[in-house]
Amino acid sequence: MTALLEATDISKRFDGTQALRCVDFSLEEGEVHALLGENGAGKSTLSKIIAGVTLPDTGQLRLRGKPVRIPSPAVAQSLGISMVFQELDLFPHLSVAENLALANAAAREGAWVRRGALHRWCGGYLQQVALDVDPSTPLRELSVSEIQLVAIARALSMQARVLLLDEPTSSLSDVNVETLFGVIGLLRRTGVAIVYVSHKMAEVHRIADRLTVMRDGTRIATLRAGEADADVFNENVDKLNALLFTSLDYAAIGVRL
Ligand SMILES: Nc1ncnc2c1ncn2[C@@H]1O[C@H](COP(=O)(O)OP(=O)(O)OP(=O)(O)O)[C@@H](O)[C@H]1O
Ligand SMILES: [Mg+2]
Repeated sequence: MTALLEATDISKRFDGTQALRCVDFSLEEGEVHALLGENGAGKSTLSKIIAGVTLPDTGQLRLRGKPVRIPSPAVAQSLGISMVFQELDLFPHLSVAENLALANAAAREGAWVRRGALHRWCGGYLQQVALDVDPSTPLRELSVSEIQLVAIARALSMQARVLLLDEPTSSLSDVNVETLFGVIGLLRRTGVAIVYVSHKMAEVHRIADRLTVMRDGTRIATLRAGEADADVFNENVDKLNALLFTSLDYAAIGVRL
């Protein structure tokens, strides 16, 4: 089966730092693929390359088998790829509906001046992320967790089929993490593919279908979660041991040692 998205041999250097070295990564439709690794491993850089925020020095990106160049977030969005950043890039003084409309030319042209239509349009996307707020609410009146769901709703309003979430639980309480996981579950059932950047094993094992482990800009291994005794796991067990895994972590992803 052709992957929805495939990144091959991606390298990126910033001044003195080799942020990525010949990294391969792929994403299937409806898959949650976690990117794991310590600080500075290259997780955000790889995500930003897929989202058009950063251009790679070398390497290839393919969408549904076709080579693509993604020089800007706008191009990424036109291809159905959207990133939700660690620091959310929304407008606090504008309403929920206005924040979605600003990202979406169709809404600006069609419903921008008709509040009722704009709010109905926005409400459909809020429903998809299970967020029960009035679209006219200014963003600054929402909690961090609600704002994050607005950011995801905004991505969906741009017809995102690939959603990149960079450390999405870093500022969420446990209850809100549950809400987010519920939304991720809903989205993957509709075929949305999710790149989930994290360094928390415990949460990754709960939601990821596959996980790719990175260290110092290199991909160490890609595993299917819960897949015990996988060949790929055995091949990489020494490298993984030398990295960030403990036996508890292995148990968390369903791997028997
Ligand atoms: N714009 C930049 N300019 C210079 N160096 C950068 C830039 N972006 C990333 N780097 C460097 O590239 C390396 C990889 O960074 P990256 O942010 O991708 O790591 P990460 O895995 O997301 O880490 P973290 O868990 O801390 O978010 C790091 O050494 C970082 O300092
Ligand atoms: Mg990062």
